[in-house]
Amino acid sequence: IKRVSTAMLQAMKERQEKISMLTSYDYSMAKMVDNAGVDVILIGDSAANVFAGYETTLPITLDNMIYHAAAVARGTQRAMVLADLPFGSYQGSANEAYNAAVRMMKESGAHALKLEGGLEIIENIKKIISGGIPVCGHLGLTPQSINKFGNFGVRAKEEQEAAKLIDDALALQEAGCFAIVLEKIPAALAKTVTEKLAIPTIGIGAGPDCDGQVLVINDMLGMNADFKPKFMRYFANLHEQITTAVSNYVAEVKAVKYPNADEQY
Ligand code: KIV
Ligand code: NA
Repeated sequence: IKRVSTAMLQAMKERQEKISMLTSYDYSMAKMVDNAGVDVILIGDSAANVFAGYETTLPITLDNMIYHAAAVARGTQRAMVLADLPFGSYQGSANEAYNAAVRMMKESGAHALKLEGGLEIIENIKKIISGGIPVCGHLGLTPQSINKFGNFGVRAKEEQEAAKLIDDALALQEAGCFAIVLEKIPAALAKTVTEKLAIPTIGIGAGPDCDGQVLVINDMLGMNADFKPKFMRYFANLHEQITTAVSNYVAEVKAVKYPNADEQY
């Protein structure tokens, strides 16, 4: 099986084939996601939320992210394995960013990295790319900056922030990023950015005109009934299925119906 590369994603944009991306945080899930044909598996720092139960993505560490990314990488054969660098690991300086990037690449087996931000961190991104590491940008609602934004609402609704987002996107492309994630921005702005850029855009809550889409797997599988922003679609209802399966298990154990005569040695 041929591994999805940055060149293949670029070719997909050029022939207008949409790119599919989903997150995974562990080996078993990554194996299913890979087998189902997802082009890019993102080890999102959303692991902080859906895996670890934190309110924000700020607490997750580089070591945590390496552990998740390595598990995912071991479960994949075809998908590109894209890992988030976590809050605090790449903003300080180009050298800090480079060192964090090299650790992630060496210790996890990821193929590319995603960093949040535009012009503020452009030198850090260039340094990572100079080391031969592909970088995906991330603009719009960048959850590592939640304390600056104050809420998880739609970004770049106003002229000034929209203009800055376009400048950032062009700067990321110029720096050599192979793609940019656009999170929770107006669909019209995402369309404009997608048309202006030669590299692919991957949207989440950014409308249908991006070159691809990404969702958090736990959310799109309906594992958390409490989380359903407007852009989310449940492609399964695992919250209900898992709860039913587990309560059936509890009942069978209590009733001494599990294990039965065939389910023992
Ligand atoms: O961490 C994450 O899951 C992400 C996606 C939502 C793009 O960055
Ligand atoms: Na993320």
